[in-house]
Amino acid sequence: MRHLRNLFLVCFILAAAGATLLSLPASASAQDASAGRALFKDKGCGACHSKGFGRLIGPDLQGVKDRVPDRKALASFIRDPKAMNDAYSVKIREEYKDLMPAQSGMTDSELEQIIDFLFSSETYGTPKVNIPKDDATIELGRQYFTGEARFVNAGPPCVSCHTIDGVGGFGGGSLASGVGSQFTSLNKAHERNGGDAGLFAALSDPQFLVMKNAFAEKPLNEQEVIALTAFLGSVSSNADAEEGGLGMMILFVILSLLGTGLLIFAFDRIWSKRFRNVRKNLVGEVA
Ligand code: HEC
Ligand code: HEC
Repeated sequence: MRHLRNLFLVCFILAAAGATLLSLPASASAQDASAGRALFKDKGCGACHSKGFGRLIGPDLQGVKDRVPDRKALASFIRDPKAMNDAYSVKIREEYKDLMPAQSGMTDSELEQIIDFLFSSETYGTPKVNIPKDDATIELGRQYFTGEARFVNAGPPCVSCHTIDGVGGFGGGSLASGVGSQFTSLNKAHERNGGDAGLFAALSDPQFLVMKNAFAEKPLNEQEVIALTAFLGSVSSNADAEEGGLGMMILFVILSLLGTGLLIFAFDRIWSKRFRNVRKNLVGEVA
């Protein structure tokens, strides 16, 4: 028992320290994104681009971080798209008819801020799918989440792998909380996945392997995805607005506790086996 208590303490301290470190960059980038967002609006980028809501005159910029990870290259592109002759730029200019105007008036620091915003998970624009926000839809989504309402194609309830504050709680699933995962709790999933449209798309066609497999043969139907999106959206807008704030810390502490619990469970299993083995040998000797 002594061992266990010490182990618990050590795990908890390590996990909490790790969580604190993890939470720092997240809050810094959230701050930067708001200045970039304002610039994005002021400079008229939003007239041709959404972020997370699909193609307009120009490409949806939500995934641009994956397409052009190099900030310098991206800054050059934004400043003068027509001057870019690398293979990727040529291709995208052909696809979108070379319609992006040069932004010659923008300073380096403005570009930096806009790119901070582009590389953040924040969205910009209005959704094309219409997600109703009435109480009945949200409640239905909650029931799908917990398994109180069954999916038509018999997919597993979300709570078998995920938690949400106030739903599932400590009793919630732990599969998606494999130590080191950032996504145990879906409290911020709506925001993380690009709002209504992004989350709708993500749930219609899950990309994470475990989840993809779980729903491959038993896909969610559109009504289910709409209700879940409405529910996760309502949870997200209730949640503490500042990332990296108290809410985030609490989430990390909960994550730490979960991880610690798993470790204790694992060690307990290992040790109890060992005792049994010792005992078996002793009994064997006597007999
Ligand atoms: C008149 C419409 C228009 C405006 C305004 C506009 N863009 Fe574009 N943007 C486009 C088009 C169209 C493309 C695709 C390349 C092309 O055809 O020129 C593009 C491409 C891009 C890309 C590359 C996207 C990718 O997926 O590789 C980025 C980044 C970008 N724009 C950012 C901005 C920013 C930031 C602003 C505001 C400062 C802005 N755009 C203003 C139309 C526009
Ligand atoms: C069989 C386990 C399993 C089930 C069931 C499951 N998920 Fe997941 N889900 C995962 C895993 C694993 C990930 C990958 C993220 C991670 O590492 O935690 C994930 C990722 C996600 C993500 C993206 C990560 C994020 O938070 O931004 C969302 C959103 C999500 N799941 C929602 C749901 C919803 C809604 C349901 C119920 C319809 C569901 N999941 C059911 C295992 C599952």
